[in-house]
Amino acid sequence: MDIPRIFTVTESAHRIHNPFTPEKLATLGAVLRLEPGTRVLDLGSGSGEMLCTWARDYGITGVGVDMSRLFSAQAKRRAEELGVDDRVEFIHGDAAGYVAAEKAGVAACLGATWIGGGVAGTIELLAKSLLPEGILLIGEPYWRQLPPTEEVAGECLAGSISDFLMLPELVGSFGELGYDVVEMVLADQEGWDRYEAAKWLTMRRWLAENPGDDFAKEVRVLLTSEPRRHVTYTREYLGWGVFALMAR
Ligand SMILES: C[S@@+](CC[C@H](N)C(=O)[O-])C[C@H]1O[C@@H](n2cnc3c(N)ncnc32)[C@H](O)[C@@H]1O
Repeated sequence: MDIPRIFTVTESAHRIHNPFTPEKLATLGAVLRLEPGTRVLDLGSGSGEMLCTWARDYGITGVGVDMSRLFSAQAKRRAEELGVDDRVEFIHGDAAGYVAAEKAGVAACLGATWIGGGVAGTIELLAKSLLPEGILLIGEPYWRQLPPTEEVAGECLAGSISDFLMLPELVGSFGELGYDVVEMVLADQEGWDRYEAAKWLTMRRWLAENPGDDFAKEVRVLLTSEPRRHVTYTREYLGWGVFALMAR
């Protein structure tokens, strides 16, 4: 079981697989006023940076589930590196339908809401693992500007304009699902650059090291087109944020 290989190539050097910088991730942990010992569940935990740094900085414990073999291994290594491997656990597996045996004070899905079939389904899934009065975290893109055409939405790597909402509509949608938005931290264009531009150097070096790989042609095409695509489309049209929710 694994994710498509392209992500393992382009994001192999990422610690954070979303448009948050380390500062934004730390801000998110701080604004949640996490008590030491709070249990955090993270579905689609990537390379584990949120759980590992929050265990180090805020004394949380936690479990992450991720379908990438590489990212799960990186998460375990990061936990050891930060000396928190006794407090955080990483499970390599499909998080769809995952319900924690021990309920959490914070249950998160940052940038992987397809795990629950969309935002509403992911909230429903996370809620099954949450203690009463616990906090859900949803990391999700939104449109900074509405794309004028479906083609532009496609260039932002969205399936269609309707895949994402504008920020006021996204925030409002949580209320319609019966949740209060109790905090939020938004990424910015610098964060998008860190997420996207970091892939370019990784691809360039991967190509130099793997010239004969079957995948090299695909990576070459991406490296040639991605910088211009990013600055024209994703950087201008897409926002991203993490929304902290509590049931009404
Ligand atoms: C955009 S990344 C976000 C990772 C992490 N939350 C972060 O912010 O660094 C999406 C993650 O979801 C994982 N993923 C994709 N499908 C999954 C599934 N069905 N179950 C668990 N993880 C999945 C990928 O391996 C990847 O790590």
